[in-house]
Amino acid sequence: MSEKTSVIDVCIAGTGSYVPEKILTNEELAARVDTSDEWIVTRTGIKERRIAADDEFTSHMASKAARRALEQAGLEPLDIELIIVATITPDTPTPATACHVQQQIGAFNAVAFDISAACSGFLYAMKISKRLISDGAFKNALIIGAEKLSTVTNWEDRSTCVLFGDGAGAAILRRAEPGEGSIVATEMGTDGNLTHLLEIPGGGSACPITSENVNQHTHTLNMQGKEVFKIAVNRMKEAAEKVIARAGWKAEEIACVIPHQANRRIIDAIADRLAVPNERVFINLHKYGNTSAASIAIAMDEANRTGAFKRGEYIVLVAFGAGLTWAAAAIRW
Ligand code: UT7
Repeated sequence: MSEKTSVIDVCIAGTGSYVPEKILTNEELAARVDTSDEWIVTRTGIKERRIAADDEFTSHMASKAARRALEQAGLEPLDIELIIVATITPDTPTPATACHVQQQIGAFNAVAFDISAACSGFLYAMKISKRLISDGAFKNALIIGAEKLSTVTNWEDRSTCVLFGDGAGAAILRRAEPGEGSIVATEMGTDGNLTHLLEIPGGGSACPITSENVNQHTHTLNMQGKEVFKIAVNRMKEAAEKVIARAGWKAEEIACVIPHQANRRIIDAIADRLAVPNERVFINLHKYGNTSAASIAIAMDEANRTGAFKRGEYIVLVAFGAGLTWAAAAIRW
């Protein structure tokens, strides 16, 4: 899906993130299921992940990330006119987690809704809000990727339970002033023929939770990892190449690539195919694992706050997830 040049440029005015305190290490997982630190690190690059407390919901993590992004942007909650939360683990099926966030941070002037595009959700939210701002519908938007994946993880399945973690990341998008950065190009894609490769089969209208199926793990994540792996590399590479070409950039001009943090081997393969040196690829999955919609949002905030790129530099975000979905963005910071 391509786009025309926007009339009004849209910039990222602030970022924020939050991860729960509790750390779950590979060693702790190896005491629960038949796995090892060595297998997890070699096959995925993950060392540990964060697990939210029982009374810490997706909206709570989202609101903490949002407050940090607002502070960095120098905006008040009432300045926000649009809130989009990307998540596959909403507090409740309805109302949207974004409505809880609106209430928790006091952003009572904002329209708020959720989107479900799995690990690509934050970049889908970025494209939607960028377009709504550049069309003049809203001035300031808050986009959030937030997940409590620990609630949809099958802790008896070693092929998936080692992968996922909890957390939230946020960004404030607003109309850019002349000379400020902008979201230069975005790309989104979906292949609904491949829904079966990565899914939570139960808990929805197709398979409501019943007292009979509640113990059969139908409400947890299932993934055919090998198939997803191959498609992820190809789709992320293509999506990143599209936004880089549309922005008119060369690989050597890119200061930082922030890929979805699912697997170190996928990230390395993409860096290689894009001809971007490894030191310009931001990685934090060793600390957090795969946090789905929160993944790129947390990574972008950490990269921003640790000085991985400066104002005016070129960065590329690229994601892939259930759907199957994929997305990318080229941003002049
Ligand atoms: O976020 C959305 C997008 N998701 C992704 O992009 C994830 C894509 N997929 C992956 O990252 C990888 O496929 C995984 C990390 C999930 C799996 O890595 P893999 O190299 O594809 O391993 P595999 O599934 O082919 O399994 C290899 C072996 C199997 O044993 P056999 O059949 O060779 O004897 C598995 O049973 O590793 C075994 N295995 C494990 N062993 C120890 C699977 N999980 C584990 C484990 N510990 N946790």
